[in-house]
Amino acid sequence: MTPQDVLAELTALQRDDVPTHGGATMAYVYDSGRTEVDELAAAAQAAFQWTNALDPTAFPSVARIENDLVGAALELLGGGPDAVGTLTSGGTESCALAVLAAREQWRARGGAGRPRMLLPVTAHAAFRKAAHLFGVEVVDIPVDPETCRADPSAVVRQLDERTVLVVVSAPSYPHGVLDPVGRIAGLAAGAGVPCHVDACIGGWVLPFLDDVPEPFDLSVPGVTSLSVDLHKYGYAPKGVSVLLTATPELRHAHWFSTAGWPGYPVVNPTLAGTRPAGVMAAAWAVHRWLGTDGYRDLARRAREATVRLAAGAAAVDGLRVVGRPVATLVALAADGPDGVDVLHLADEMTARGWLLQPQPPFAQDVGDLPATLHLTVTAATADRVEALLSDLRGAARAAAALPRPVPDPGLVAAAATIDPAALSVAEVEALLELAGVSGGSLPERMAPVHALVAALPRPVAERLLAGVLGRVYRPALSG
Ligand SMILES: Cc1ncc(COP(=O)(O)O)c(C=O)c1O
Repeated sequence: MTPQDVLAELTALQRDDVPTHGGATMAYVYDSGRTEVDELAAAAQAAFQWTNALDPTAFPSVARIENDLVGAALELLGGGPDAVGTLTSGGTESCALAVLAAREQWRARGGAGRPRMLLPVTAHAAFRKAAHLFGVEVVDIPVDPETCRADPSAVVRQLDERTVLVVVSAPSYPHGVLDPVGRIAGLAAGAGVPCHVDACIGGWVLPFLDDVPEPFDLSVPGVTSLSVDLHKYGYAPKGVSVLLTATPELRHAHWFSTAGWPGYPVVNPTLAGTRPAGVMAAAWAVHRWLGTDGYRDLARRAREATVRLAAGAAAVDGLRVVGRPVATLVALAADGPDGVDVLHLADEMTARGWLLQPQPPFAQDVGDLPATLHLTVTAATADRVEALLSDLRGAARAAAALPRPVPDPGLVAAAATIDPAALSVAEVEALLELAGVSGGSLPERMAPVHALVAALPRPVAERLLAGVLGRVYRPALSG
């Protein structure tokens, strides 16, 4: 075989993937629509692909790259004179390290008992993962069912001496709305509790827009840390994010160092040991190339497309836009009880070549959140808004003609009696067969599956969802 043959095989593996470019995949990927950005990123990544950012004293280039990118993020996002930061592998790691740092600082101050984190239900699931990993209890903060913004009065009620962190989103992933950052950060500060702004998705967009309703960054009193992903609207390849902290002490609280083994002295600013420098270099190159003007242009194009898209979608019979989208994300819901079922709508849009992400309904004490369809708009979608709206109108008509997806009541009743922790892998497989998910691939129409998942008790749904992925990841053995 030649290397070209191998590459051709690899490329063929992508045949069934959703497109990463062209603006029709409206989750997971961020396309600037500029080929020179992609080419530059690829070349930069190749130049640094063997470099290990584990040790910036052996590779001073990686320290320079990290310092430049953290400095740029601080300048963009209101960092004060003491603020510092760290490059991480992505949004989940940035959020996790923010939680770890807050917990460690609380412990260092003498905090006792089980640490708690106040988390708006719309905050990214990464914080739930962090809570799971670091032994932190999650206290759900409800959001207003109309605006989907976190409720400051619930924060007031829940702040106590075990609270290590309060989280807000700028904006939230599910609905693209901005939490009341100033109010909540102020309340947290009043109680001596740190406040993290998750700007993973909005942090490289909002600073370039004129119509942001309120300040949200590190300059807001009470905000102690902020996450922003370069692999989202920084238009860098996957695997790079920034965690900013208002003080070096808070950054130190998520670092790990040990001299307690016979090997090399270890200082890890992130969860990883070896850190890939390639993607950091790619982010540096894209940032250097686009500069403030380039990012402003891309952010404004995506924002302008979002506003057009939201207005067009709101005019479709049976659909409404949820809350007030402030950046480049839109969530669509059924307009009233007879509105279009958005789970069907997702399937209809898939059939028309678009990936819009279905989000299940969500129950909370102060009023449930409806099922929604999430759209992440990037610069590449800007030229296709009319085509998207035209397909959305057709898809909405088709979805409205379908019977609502209703989960099998027998299955739901049976699931309510299950203890998911006691299920073996084989039993999960059997349940998935019953639910109509068989073989290694998912059904073409996902609406019934999403409706079933939404009707199950959350722990059961979580176990079954993991089971679905267990079917996808099966070792391919050549013998
Ligand atoms: C607001 C927010 N936070 C955190 C994350 C997690 O980021 P990642 O997927 O890079 O781990 C996302 C991802 O979309 C996000 O939108």
